[in-house]
Amino acid sequence: MRKKLKMQNSTHSAEYLMESEEENIRLEVKTDPDALRKQALWCGVKPGMRILDGGCGPGITTALLYELIQPGGSIVGVDFSKTRIAYAKENYGGKSGIGFHLHDLREPMEEFGQFDLVWVRFVLEYYRKGALDIVKNLKKCVKPGGTLCLLDLDYNCLNHYGMPSQLASILPKIMKYLDKKYNVDTFIGCKLYSFLYDTGFEEIEVELIAHNLIYGKIRDKDKFNLRKKIEIAAEKADEIIKSYPGGYLNFSNDLNNYLVDPRRFTYTPLLLCKGIKKL
Ligand SMILES: C[S@@+](CC[C@H](N)C(=O)[O-])C[C@H]1O[C@@H](n2cnc3c(N)ncnc32)[C@H](O)[C@@H]1O
Repeated sequence: MRKKLKMQNSTHSAEYLMESEEENIRLEVKTDPDALRKQALWCGVKPGMRILDGGCGPGITTALLYELIQPGGSIVGVDFSKTRIAYAKENYGGKSGIGFHLHDLREPMEEFGQFDLVWVRFVLEYYRKGALDIVKNLKKCVKPGGTLCLLDLDYNCLNHYGMPSQLASILPKIMKYLDKKYNVDTFIGCKLYSFLYDTGFEEIEVELIAHNLIYGKIRDKDKFNLRKKIEIAAEKADEIIKSYPGGYLNFSNDLNNYLVDPRRFTYTPLLLCKGIKKL
């Protein structure tokens, strides 16, 4: 029997597709500090800056960004999940120049003031409808001459080679279902440039890199993250998965066998997009 994941019931974050008791740990484990540092350097993160980490999760990304802005920099992490903010405060808070606040990015942000750089990674993918409004809202927090950085996935969970055909044909159906039913956007990455363009940012630059690039023996942290993602997706897209030959158990076994097969090749394109707010 499949174990039902216990969902949290905090008001806003209940809308978040990935919400579960283990989401703090999943986000903590999957964060690759070296990859994040490279992304941050490309975005122009520098010592002395004041940064907003929008949708900061359990705080690990905020803490890594904080290191990059020393000496003299400060950072505010906001997230609409009570458990994520409590975890962030407990594990990464309590130092001067780093603060965490419970806040929904769709609500006015004036109380936080303005920032040299606003960083939003892996958040807009949960807003097929509403992503542009979040960008417009965040623009108000960027100082004139400051930078807005949007980092997100494209073709999320859909690039695999060597996958059995039954599995390869159900994955796009699952993602399409989640997009429609839960307002997720599997293809948000290719929209980021237009969000900055349409909101009047200048000197826009885009970079494309591989995320979750996996070949050969899978690392335990990748296996944990991918399994968790799939468990949650399967929970939410039960209607689709029950059509899989042999049902959920077969789906889960086939997927597990694919993930641990050292011949499989998988990755997700990650788009990094930055723009400057007019002076
Ligand atoms: C996939 S996690 C990404 C965490 C972190 N940014 C990173 O790069 O690992 C998405 C986070 O965004 C938060 N989130 C989603 N929608 C939000 C909103 N409207 N306002 C604030 N936080 C939000 C979720 O609670 C979750 O912690």
